[in-house]
Amino acid sequence: MAESAIKSEKSVSQLRCIGCGRTALPDRFRCEHCRDLLEIIYPGWKESGPGGLDSASLKQLWRDRRSSLDPSDQSGVWRFREILPDISQQQVITIREGNTPVYELPHCAKSAGVRHLYAKHQGMNPTGSFKDTGMTVAASFARQAGYRWVACASTGNTSASMAAYAARGGLHSLVLMPDGKISWSKLSQSLDYGAITCQLKTDFDGCVRVLNEVVERMPVYLLNSVNPYRVEGQKTAAFELLEQLGWEPADHIIVPGGNLANSSAIGKALREMKQLGFISRLPKVSVIQAEGANPLVRTIRETGGEKLVPVHADTMATAIRIGNPASWKKALRVIRETEGTVEQVSEIEIALAKAEIGAEGIGCEPASAVTLAGLKKLVKQGFVRPNESIVLVLTGHLMKDADFTLKFHRGDLFTGTPYEQESHALKPQQRAPLVLEPSVEAVIQLLRSAEK
Ligand code: F0G
Repeated sequence: MAESAIKSEKSVSQLRCIGCGRTALPDRFRCEHCRDLLEIIYPGWKESGPGGLDSASLKQLWRDRRSSLDPSDQSGVWRFREILPDISQQQVITIREGNTPVYELPHCAKSAGVRHLYAKHQGMNPTGSFKDTGMTVAASFARQAGYRWVACASTGNTSASMAAYAARGGLHSLVLMPDGKISWSKLSQSLDYGAITCQLKTDFDGCVRVLNEVVERMPVYLLNSVNPYRVEGQKTAAFELLEQLGWEPADHIIVPGGNLANSSAIGKALREMKQLGFISRLPKVSVIQAEGANPLVRTIRETGGEKLVPVHADTMATAIRIGNPASWKKALRVIRETEGTVEQVSEIEIALAKAEIGAEGIGCEPASAVTLAGLKKLVKQGFVRPNESIVLVLTGHLMKDADFTLKFHRGDLFTGTPYEQESHALKPQQRAPLVLEPSVEAVIQLLRSAEK
């Protein structure tokens, strides 16, 4: 690793083990003593605040950067650079990620039984998922540290994002994806962006196992979400959300859970915002998993959070088809600290929620829709009250998994599955394409009958 990278790292941030608290070198992923994950800390903040500024000055500075023409200022990640590791401006790889919208979802609110409901749409990032916010930081670090190769195991979104940032930054990239049960659109992205893409005959957890050994033996920088720089970038989504809410915390933030880095990142951001005086209370962060990929839910329910319960994961929400989540301890800490909770939702509940979000003109991929499905359950349980403010984090764009959407509307998503019978209840949400003769009369007749 280049000497300059080590030096600049030391001056602003440090890597610290979440287990034993020992510090680690800037390009490590696990503690050499206890093998726990690492997180980035900023020792200088205690004395003088990020960048030597107080929270009021930072709020102003970050807002002002939105009108700047500088690429780093135009990035919704790097405009928050005071709360990020120090990466030299020349090394920053940005595709103008972040700056994603918050939408109100009145119909989904009604269906969940709450007064107001908002969605922070991270699928509006350059490659269509929240992964870009973390990737810009970790890929830039890789370049600054002198790596030529980056790699990840992925259910599709991380790989799409990594391939894009590597291409923009002049790095080579290697992708390991499961062979089958992934979305073709995500696979096509990493091909187009020039990654060497391998489909391994295993699932996501199997891909991670192989890659972990590859990076031990080759000079390849790992860009999976155990990478602490990715977590730092993903943190900015929560800073940006709070900025969009006028720095008034929502009561609840609801996120999907896969490898559990995103919930960890959002929680870390909230913790830092409270410490730095940006906000005075923490929103409750709740994590929703698919029933078929529910290791965190089981870990909490069956062991009280003492020991990870890995599962053999299966869900049509392929982005979160993960049974052995790396960041479970970090996510657990966030749930405890913010007094959030975990919930699991069925395949049918996911499909219904996705269609309801889509019907508001705000498409998302199935993994994102678990948030609405989970919210409905949390309202029924009384954990979320109807007058509270709630933000769903939508993690991926509708176009990420067009196959799922098409099959849903054609009514064959669940054909041949154990949910076939139950899926008949989804008929009112389905709008299959209508094939007509090319006649004006036929179209007008259709319009008339649709009006009735
Ligand atoms: N939503 C989407 C759209 C995702 O792609 C992922 C993870 C998650 C939610 C879960 O986030 O892992 O931080 O808890 N996708 C990974 C990938 C694993 O390889 O693209 P998490």
